[in-house]
Amino acid sequence: MAEREFDIVLWGATGATGRRTAHHLARRCGESGLRLAMGGRNRDKLETVHDDLPDTGSTSAILVGDSHDTAFLGTMAARTRVVVSTVGPFALHGSELVAACVENGTHYCDLTAEPQWMRAMIDLHQQRARETGARIVHACGHDSIPSDLGVQFLQDAALARYGKPCKRVTTRVTRMKGGFSGGTAASFLNAMRLRETDPDFDRLSKDPYALCPEGERQGPDGPDRMMPVEVTWDPDLQAWTKPYFMGPMNSKVVRRSNAIMEYPYGRDFRYQETALTRSGIGGWGAAMRSTIFGRLFLIAMAIPTTRGLLQRYVLPKSGEGPSKEVRESGSYELVQVGEMPDGTILKARITGQGDPGVRSTTLMLTEAALCLAEDEGNITVGGGFWTPAAAMGTLLRDRITEHAGMSFELIPDNQV
Ligand SMILES: NC(=O)c1ccc[n+]([C@@H]2O[C@H](COP(=O)([O-])OP(=O)(O)OC[C@H]3O[C@@H](n4cnc5c(N)ncnc54)[C@H](OP(=O)(O)O)[C@@H]3O)[C@@H](O)[C@H]2O)c1
Repeated sequence: MAEREFDIVLWGATGATGRRTAHHLARRCGESGLRLAMGGRNRDKLETVHDDLPDTGSTSAILVGDSHDTAFLGTMAARTRVVVSTVGPFALHGSELVAACVENGTHYCDLTAEPQWMRAMIDLHQQRARETGARIVHACGHDSIPSDLGVQFLQDAALARYGKPCKRVTTRVTRMKGGFSGGTAASFLNAMRLRETDPDFDRLSKDPYALCPEGERQGPDGPDRMMPVEVTWDPDLQAWTKPYFMGPMNSKVVRRSNAIMEYPYGRDFRYQETALTRSGIGGWGAAMRSTIFGRLFLIAMAIPTTRGLLQRYVLPKSGEGPSKEVRESGSYELVQVGEMPDGTILKARITGQGDPGVRSTTLMLTEAALCLAEDEGNITVGGGFWTPAAAMGTLLRDRITEHAGMSFELIPDNQV
């Protein structure tokens, strides 16, 4: 890419995740000598964030504009090599920016966990992104980097050890400690509204292959469901499982990775993601309680009156998120189980330090943006819409292991 004024523009530096991302980026760009600019719609707020940043000499400009101002976004995208965005709900505020990055051949990553919007962006811009060379990578937060890069890690190990990929991988969330931010609540509320108005919403939510390219939307996995209630026994890990709220979204991303990387996991690859409790009646009870609570919450969110009450009195507002203490004391763990065609089992553990919703997410997003900028020449894929695994793979895995408090490790036989 020809020289541009900035290496990275952070779009949305004033929100709950944006402020944290600004800090991480200022520090990391300072270390790497990258030129960083920060953008958003409110100059005063941006200046406050800017004044609070560590003085690393990396932040050179503040860009003020609106997410729906296409002329402004076009100019901004043309001035930088990479845009990283936290302005969500992306279905409401993200489309014009993606179009601007695609048109200007500017690499882009974000935090969206909205598969319907991702599908729409791919359909609208894939061809043009291939032409301009813009690498567009959605889902660069806790949704869906640990799942996507975790499966790739396990499959790389299977290939290295046995010369074949696992035919089935299950991801179990075994620990999750932290909170979530106002933007996540807003994205969820927007999804519940879209469900009522968009006739395609449910079809796409249920389709496990909804993010795969046209002609590749079939495979052995059954439909995803918005309100699953199953409590099931996991024979691999000898414990009860319950639905994991983000499982359907992460699974769609993992299946898209397999399809767009031309099936390194095989065409008959099966994937499932749920949360794990314990064994015994206690584990079953815990899974049941949490499933029933989750179901009641979803029902309350589906009814406009209760949704309004939850929005007003319970859910965090824009700009709000977990406290510093929660962010820093949070953590999570995923255990992945892969089954080889002959039944051999391979297991991996993925851990993250910091609460998944804000701290870990913003550290991962920061590394994704740095990867697009610093590893531009090492990334092997061209322009287009990619997943984290397909675009950045081990480059990003190494970065988040070194700089984002994450670990990926194989679990020795007979240990969980
Ligand atoms: N993938 C994951 O794991 C993950 C984790 C966390 C969050 N997220 C997603 O990340 C997004 C951000 O979450 P958040 O909690 O940081 O949200 P937030 O606190 O509400 O921040 C939203 C940001 O967008 C800006 N904004 C809104 N409308 C705009 C417009 N028209 N023009 C320019 N800027 C505008 C806001 O600016 P002002 O400050 O001026 O209002 C703010 O900077 C959400 O979509 C959320 O779902 C994903």
